[in-house]
Amino acid sequence: MSNSDPTSFVKKVAVTQWEQPTARLDWAADLEAGRILHFEALPFIVDHSEQRFFDAGIQSKGARNISLDSSGTLKGMNASAEDQKALTQFILRYRDLAQQLVDSAFPKYKTDLRVAPTSFRPNQVETRTQSVRADDKRLHIDAFPTRPNYGERILRVFLNVNPLGQPRVWRVGEPFIEIAKQFVPKIKPYSAWQAKALSALGITKSLRSEYDHLMLGIHDGMKRSDQYQSESNQITYNFPPGSVWVCFSDQAAHAVMAGQFMMEQTYHLPVTSLYDSQTSPLQILQKLTHKELV
Ligand code: SIN
Ligand code: FE
Repeated sequence: MSNSDPTSFVKKVAVTQWEQPTARLDWAADLEAGRILHFEALPFIVDHSEQRFFDAGIQSKGARNISLDSSGTLKGMNASAEDQKALTQFILRYRDLAQQLVDSAFPKYKTDLRVAPTSFRPNQVETRTQSVRADDKRLHIDAFPTRPNYGERILRVFLNVNPLGQPRVWRVGEPFIEIAKQFVPKIKPYSAWQAKALSALGITKSLRSEYDHLMLGIHDGMKRSDQYQSESNQITYNFPPGSVWVCFSDQAAHAVMAGQFMMEQTYHLPVTSLYDSQTSPLQILQKLTHKELV
């Protein structure tokens, strides 16, 4: 592992309010270049009565996390109706603050930003066992096997709410272009026929585009390579409790190594809503392959 300069992977931000008085094109440039923004001092107050949610047992067996969808339905929680209502409020408070931050700092994103479910993740990362493909302890970019997105961006806002002082420990990897150059040549050719079959069988929710095929190939290639995991250019980075961090997770290579109790809000954003679409994975892959991919 090389000794890389952390500031080229993660930018620290010292603001103390979620709502920004003006648009932050400087932050957008960092994000769209694949860097993570780390807000070290945004306030999130956990009420005394909410301390009971810091218990891994509140998650249903078999659920990946506890999530609140945009219609207000809570999924994955194993608790009384009253606790479910209270946890919904806790998650909603976070969702509103994340939305304030994104809307105020990046007004260009606002019109076409789609809000995905908000999650609360009470699991201890270190003791979780998963298949290689599902293992987020391995460095990866986010790409989903069942939900093709045709180049749409995945923007995520995270909060470490750990009450015991435990940091969320991530590894953060090299720029997307470097990753793409290594893995794209190894991906088997796209098959329109196979994409149709996957869609007809209901394995994918819509037709997997060539873009989605390549992104999934990169995701799987990174996770499956022990050599890449240990030798690629990367840093280990701690997000202490109270940290908020934001990234395009389809572009910023990441892995979670340790921690417990995190909130996470995902957004989907069309490539045309970016401040500079040239640095998006779609444009990078199209340039690399000399092809239209969606
Ligand atoms: C991921 O998106 O890979 C998981 C991040 C985390 O759980 O900290
Ligand atoms: Fe991920």
